[in-house]
Order: sequence, then C-alpha cells, then structure tokens
Amino acid sequence: MTVPAARRTRRRMASIATGVLVGALLVSGVGGASAADPAQGLKDTTPFKAGVAIDQRETSGDAARVVTEHFDQVTAENHMKPDAWYDGQRTLRIHPQAAAIMDFADTHDLDVYGHTLVWHQQTPAWFFQTATGQPLSTSDADRAVLRERMRTHIFGVARLLSERDGLFGAGNPLTAFDVVNEVISDGAEPDGLRRSEWYRILGEEFIDLAFRYADEAFNETYAAPGADRPVTLFINDYSTEWDAKRARYLALVDRLLARGVPVDGVGHQFHVSMSVNVSALARAIDAFADRPVTQAVTELDVPTGNPVTTAALDAQGAYYRAAFEVFHARKDHLYSVSVWGLNDSRSWRAADGAPLLFFDDLTAKPALQGALAAAPAPAVSVAVSSRCVAGRVVLVVTSTNLAESPASIAVQSPFGQRHATDLAGGRSVAHAFSPRFSSIPGGVVAVTTADGEHASTPYPAAACS
Ligand code: G3I
Repeated sequence: MTVPAARRTRRRMASIATGVLVGALLVSGVGGASAADPAQGLKDTTPFKAGVAIDQRETSGDAARVVTEHFDQVTAENHMKPDAWYDGQRTLRIHPQAAAIMDFADTHDLDVYGHTLVWHQQTPAWFFQTATGQPLSTSDADRAVLRERMRTHIFGVARLLSERDGLFGAGNPLTAFDVVNEVISDGAEPDGLRRSEWYRILGEEFIDLAFRYADEAFNETYAAPGADRPVTLFINDYSTEWDAKRARYLALVDRLLARGVPVDGVGHQFHVSMSVNVSALARAIDAFADRPVTQAVTELDVPTGNPVTTAALDAQGAYYRAAFEVFHARKDHLYSVSVWGLNDSRSWRAADGAPLLFFDDLTAKPALQGALAAAPAPAVSVAVSSRCVAGRVVLVVTSTNLAESPASIAVQSPFGQRHATDLAGGRSVAHAFSPRFSSIPGGVVAVTTADGEHASTPYPAAACS
C-alpha cells in the first residue's frame, strides 16, 4: 500500500517574494524574522496543505475570499457526518451544505477532506436498532445487519460524491476522509477503545471493516481507472497530545497495520489550549513518524481564555507561531494542517476566547501572523525576466533570501558567461545585464551565495523590435 506523501494536488506554487529592480543593482532588504510576506496566504507558506473547517457560510462573500486566499483544503465541519447524509425518511442523499462545499471546492480548486464516515456521535439511532426499534444484540444475525448498514453507508457516500463530482482521482475534489473518528477511550480500557454502540455490537473489528469498506468504495469501485488510491484514509482522534491516550492510539494503529488494514493516515485533532506546551504536539507527531502512515493536524484551535485582551491575543500569536514551527519541522510527515473554523465566533469553543486565526470582521489576528511567521526562510531563489531598453535586451535577475551574504550572479549564454557580484549583500537583490544585442538566445541564470547556497533558472530567448 503506497502511503501518500504530503502533496500539493491543487495548489499554486509559493510565490517568490521578489526585490525591486531595473537599471543598476538594487538591494531591497526584507525586514522581520521570517520570509513570509504578510500579503502571502497561509497556504503559500506551508509545505503541507493548509485546511479549514467550513460550512455553507464560508462558500460565498468575504469569507469565501479569505478561505481561497489562505487555504487549499476544506473540511465539512458538520455536513458529511453520518446523520447528515439522511433525510427525514432515512433516504441517503448529499446534504445541501455538503453539496455547496463540494461545488465551492471544485470552483476554487480546493481539496476536500471528508469528515467522518464512522463515529459514535451524530449517527442515526436506527443504525443500532432492529426494525422494531430494539437495540441490536451481539447475535451473529444482528452483527451482520450492522456490518451491512456500515457498508451500505460508506458505499452510498462514495457513490453519491462520485456521481456528482466525478470518479475519485479524476478531478473529484475529495482527496481524504476521516474513516473512523474518536474510537480511542478517554480512560484506561484493556484494549484502549471507546465503548460505543459500534464497539458493543461488532467489537474492534468495526474499525477494520470501516477501512476495508472505505478503501474498496473510494479507492476501487468509485476510483478513476489508473488512479492510485486517490482518497487518503485517516483515523482521527483528540487528546493525542496526552501521552496515555496517544499510547492507546498508537497501539491500535499498530494492530490495524499488523492486520493489513488500509490505514493511510493518522489525524491529530489538537483542540488544545495555550497551557499545552507545543512540545506535546511534536511528541504526538513524532510517535507515528516511523510507521507507514502520513499524518494530519485535523481540527486545530487554541482559545485565549477570557477576557480576550490584546496581551492574550499576542500570546496566542506566539503560540500559533510555535505550533506551526513544530509542523514545518515535521513537514515530511504531514498531509495537511487544518484549523477548526475560519473566524472566532464560528468556533465551537468561541466561549473560551477567540480560538482561531481571524477576527469576526475577517481581518488577520496575531494568530495568523504567527502562523505565517513560522515559515522558514526559503533557500536562496532566483527569477529572471527580460525587457527592452533603447532597443537592447536587458536581463533582470531577481534573487531573494541571500541571508545578508554577498552573492555572485552568473548568466550562462552562447555569448559566454557574464558575472556580477552584489557587493552590498542583503536579503534581496536585483541586477540588470545589458548585452549589446537587440536579440539574445535563451540561457541560464545562476546565483551562488558566499555561503555556497545555489539557485538557477533558465531564461527564454528575447528580442527587441
Ligand atoms: O443543524 C442544527 C440546527 O438545525 C438546529 O437548529 C441547531 C440547534 O439544535 O443544531 C444544529 O446542529 C448543530 C450542529 O453543530 C450544526 O451547527 C448540533 O446541534 C451541534 O451539536 C453540532 O456541533 C458540532 C459538534 O462537532 C457535534 O457534531 C460542532 O459544530 C462541531 O464543530 C463539532 O466538531 C467536532 C468534530 O466533528 C469532531 N472532533 C471534535 C469537534 C468538536 O466537538
């Protein structure tokens, strides 16, 4: 089973902050301790997908603008949960809000992270009842009934989504699903599992079944021909930042993997507070780092507490920066990092004090600035453009993040090497080469810093009429 690495399925490349230019050498220093341009979207600063939990309210107006600027993945906060798929007559159908989210994602080239196929909450009571409304027993017949209900639900969800948005792996925006949610017990149980109705009737096997049904439905039956497991299948839980619960989580995942259950990813909800040291978040991700799974931060929120003072908001900004620094340092293990809501009043934890990245007027909080500032300065980069000056071709070479060290800029072309050295140093430099020609063939521009960092890029032929 191939485990999807952190991937960029539908996102533009991070924009390169560029210096300003033309004529002679210009050095434009970049202030601040991070490379992220405040005007950059969060998604442009993260090597993993940046996600947000939404409902229909965030699919239009200013909220939609902010979502598309900062995120490249969305999670349905409520409208893909088990009960959301059934109308009053128990008929399976796509909830109108889930449809709105799928349409929004498709229109704006976002990925959708499904939440959640099997859960002890928000599941219709009749799932666990006989036709006459009695609780299902653990008889073979009743267990068979519940297995079939689970399979029918999972296949029905996959069918409905693929019928409206295409087969998975062929343009359908849904690329991941929480297959099971919160199956680990909060207290010590011999097997570490929550005593839910799923567990009472089917035992631990219900988790195996959920993943096997989901893999068959999303990655075989409704997958595009030739698509390689297009939907990443996650187990998801909260309080994984706490050692005891995480140990139960890891033990279950190891049992599932040992049984060949197709678990692709491990989700950490991270509904935390500022009293939780971010080292606990690091330990949670590190605990699974050597397992054949990817991971996701699925529901991050961090309340300030009350009253919500300026100092508390600034402290929250520092916390989000430290948390995202943990995530950046573990980028190779992270499929995505999602916050559980866009603006503070939309949070299920709003009463605990401003948990999210945006104020209710959708302006950025220190929390967002902190998440942006966590982005490490990218290695030196170079961009080149050409323009005509007095009928002659001028190559404009722009490089950034020279880390205050001088750099040599070389233009390789059929006319031979041309060099320039930025004596002034500086985080960003631009240089104009003025060949004596009205047309030049293509070539390569390279930048080498005094620290030995290197970047190069080809440039196309150019001509001035
Ligand atoms: O849609 C109904 C509405 O018709 C009705 O008038 C209203 C009042 O009863 O309730 C509305 O449903 C509410 C739903 O959110 C949509 O707003 C439910 O009562 C309410 O319980 C539900 O809360 C959600 C909660 O999960 C339970 O499903 C929260 O919004 C949601 O943020 C929260 O998210 C969970 C994750 O799914 C799993 N991890 C924990 C996280 C926080 O609990």
